[in-house]
Amino acid sequence: MTEAAPKKEQRRKFQAIRGTRDLLPPDTALWNHVEETAHAVFNTFGFGEIRPPIFEPTELFARAVGANTDVVSKEMYKLHGDLESFRDRAIGESNRPRTPQQLNMSVVMFVVFVGALKQALDSQELTADAESLRTIEKLTSLVREGHKRWQASQPTGWGTEWPEFFAECQRLAIQISIESQSLRPEATASVCRAYIEHNMQQLPQPQKLYYIGPMFRRERPQKGRYRQFYQIGAEVLENVKPDPMRDTAKELAKDAITDAEVIQMVMTFFDRLKLPGVQLEINSIGHAAENCRRGYVALLKSELEKVKDKLGADSQRRIETNPLRILDSKLEHEQPIIATLPKIADHLCDDCKTHYAAVKRELELRGVFYKENWRLVRGLDYYMRTTFEITAQGLGSQNAVCGGGRYDGLVELLGGPPTKGIGFAIGEDRLILSLQEAKDQSLVTSHQPPFVYVAWMGANAYAAAVHAAKDLRAAGIRVELPPVEQKFGKALERASKLGAQYALILGDNEVAEGTWTLKTLADGTQQKFTEPHLLDFLKKL
Ligand code: HAM
Repeated sequence: MTEAAPKKEQRRKFQAIRGTRDLLPPDTALWNHVEETAHAVFNTFGFGEIRPPIFEPTELFARAVGANTDVVSKEMYKLHGDLESFRDRAIGESNRPRTPQQLNMSVVMFVVFVGALKQALDSQELTADAESLRTIEKLTSLVREGHKRWQASQPTGWGTEWPEFFAECQRLAIQISIESQSLRPEATASVCRAYIEHNMQQLPQPQKLYYIGPMFRRERPQKGRYRQFYQIGAEVLENVKPDPMRDTAKELAKDAITDAEVIQMVMTFFDRLKLPGVQLEINSIGHAAENCRRGYVALLKSELEKVKDKLGADSQRRIETNPLRILDSKLEHEQPIIATLPKIADHLCDDCKTHYAAVKRELELRGVFYKENWRLVRGLDYYMRTTFEITAQGLGSQNAVCGGGRYDGLVELLGGPPTKGIGFAIGEDRLILSLQEAKDQSLVTSHQPPFVYVAWMGANAYAAAVHAAKDLRAAGIRVELPPVEQKFGKALERASKLGAQYALILGDNEVAEGTWTLKTLADGTQQKFTEPHLLDFLKKL
């Protein structure tokens, strides 16, 4: 029995989800060209490719990028995060002011949470160790008991027993480790995770790795800003061996060279692509110590408190959560205020100052032009010392085509050995946009038309055409073999339309005689060849 066709209004026209898009020919040829150039340039700097998975534990990104950053707190795509949100709701409800309705809701939310836990365990979506299992059991029986009590008495107030009950439920709920997973918003955290997982500190140091692939952030889509976007990134990771004789001056000089090499690599890549209007900005944000960034942030905070009333809501909130990010503000009315704030360069410790001066020297030595920007702090928590951003032409407000910096200590923060790190990520979508805006035709490698169009007619000719196409394609020639017989006039018309250079004319007569005709489409001239000669002739072109 066949199913009835859906009514017209039920037939949904599917479209790519907002913030995602299809990359199509001929544009994909430019994407491939960009990626091939990245492979080639990064190779000359000794980098090897890594392909991490596109989803990882949410906790990895929260710890690496920072739980308070926009990227983690607002923009991550969590996969089956229901358990966590049920738990958050249950805890949130049972913390609220105490009306009978809220009491009711709190009981219900804990019932929902333990129900969801059971379901996730049954379907093996959640795995729990013995201790977690015991905690889940305890919480489940406590919630069941509380639910029964609530059903029996339908309380009109919280009395004394309910706060105790919920405090115990919350205590147990927090103890259960629920591992949600997220689509990666960036890949530095994944590369560090892989470095630890594969004991890369035992391989020759530093490890120089690069990646190309999609990232996911729930941002407001606009030109140059997508929810699925692509990055081309690179990371240099170097294990730090304990050495009581460590020569700090030498270390700082070596790190500065690595920073300059990494920046030089991305600039070389942009240069090779002839990316228009490239501008590199650099800064040092010091390291997390009282006599360096921490001291500066405390000073910044106190200065910001004085002008709090003049700041926008976002910046006011950031005075508490992340005052450095206020320097990044694009709000017009905040600009004159920010201009008067203390500058980090005046508050760096001696080592960070030495390192920053060496980075600038090393860039100059390599002929890499830069501009210093004391407000360049970047939106991810893991940076220290060097930060940099590169802008390009034709991108409007989203003009940062690359961002990066140093992140010593991140691998350790993720449970690995003491390790230094520096890297960058290029927004490939923006890079392509900028190249396309520049309309440099030599660069925009378009989808290539067929070289030979095989115009065949007749059953014998068809078999010969199939063999000829196979032979020519094996020699790397682009061949179009039409799947239907066409009159020669029609076939030539189609060959011209596709932009082919030659039409190979094969009728049953030609095949019987063993002489094949090759027509040059641009001038209409024809040449006759025997089959082996013709294939040789084409292969040599
Ligand atoms: P990021 O600055 O967050 O850094 O991103 C790097 C680049 O990715 C940006 O400069 C931009 O070109 C591009 N990008 C970011 N979000 C979007 C979006 N929604 N749509 C289109 N392009 C976007 C990082 O991701 C760090 N992991 C870079 C890094 C590597 N630092 C050290 N190592």
